[in-house]
Amino acid sequence: MLKNRNLINADDFNVDEINEILNLAEEIIKRPSDFSNLCNGKILGTLFFEPSTRTRLSFESAIHRLGGDCIGFSESASSSTSKGESLADTIRTVSNYTDIIAMRNPKEGSAVLASSYSEVPLINAGDGGHQHPTQTLTDLLTIWMTKKRLDNMTIGLCGDLKFGRTVHSLIKAMSRYNNNKFVLISPEELQVPDYIKIFLKSKNIEFKEVEKMEDVIGELDVLYMTRVQKERFFNEADYVRLKDSYILDNNKMKLATEDLAVLHPLPRVNEIATEVDSDPRAVYFKQVRYGVIVRMALILKLLGVR
Ligand code: NCD
Repeated sequence: MLKNRNLINADDFNVDEINEILNLAEEIIKRPSDFSNLCNGKILGTLFFEPSTRTRLSFESAIHRLGGDCIGFSESASSSTSKGESLADTIRTVSNYTDIIAMRNPKEGSAVLASSYSEVPLINAGDGGHQHPTQTLTDLLTIWMTKKRLDNMTIGLCGDLKFGRTVHSLIKAMSRYNNNKFVLISPEELQVPDYIKIFLKSKNIEFKEVEKMEDVIGELDVLYMTRVQKERFFNEADYVRLKDSYILDNNKMKLATEDLAVLHPLPRVNEIATEVDSDPRAVYFKQVRYGVIVRMALILKLLGVR
């Protein structure tokens, strides 16, 4: 039962529950007009204490496409946080105004804290470098719609695997499907945190860490590109040194198989050359569309409308 639940971590929902959301998303793709009034009278709160284009606007688009409304803020400067209000008090307040909340906050662990004060379902739209479970639902729907399976895959993740919260959430989610393997492509300084490696080892999931994309791109079914997370670096010099570590271009795409799927949560900085955009294997703009659909499905499930 997903009604009234929170979504904080990518593994809060079991595989059956995730599949329920993906199935509903597929129904929405087939017959969007059947869903256009289901959230009449419902209000989504979008509390964004950190910048966002896709995540916030896709949540807002999702509730509007379901016939509901939304209220919120897009930066902490325009909320009472700037006057010193605690997160707990902001959440207690906003849960009186809304039926469901999506929150992004730069502090790891803020989402679980907020959920303990919320009277309505709370969705983590990114808590610092920790987790970003609705991006993961987007990624799962994109992989499902592109490959028609979520198991038996070699998934390459490339770039900033240390600070990239979408990477942490996606690894956790894809680990639950049978026989998936991970190829972790990053400079040494930007490898996945130890807790992810410990998690993979404890589940006996095959993974390897490499530095060169060219050596492994031919083995992959999915390549998940990420940007170097500038805002989470402690010093500018390290960022400048690492920011262009990987650039996927048409030459590298020649080394990949015909049915590779290239995903990216976006925003892109330099890590995918624009020449790759017209390659049929590049699915990152389709992924943007799936982001709205999957959030529609999630909102419907948490509100218990479907
Ligand atoms: C990601 C994020 O915010 O973590 N973007 C997104 O939600 N689509 C990735 C990123 O910012 O690099």
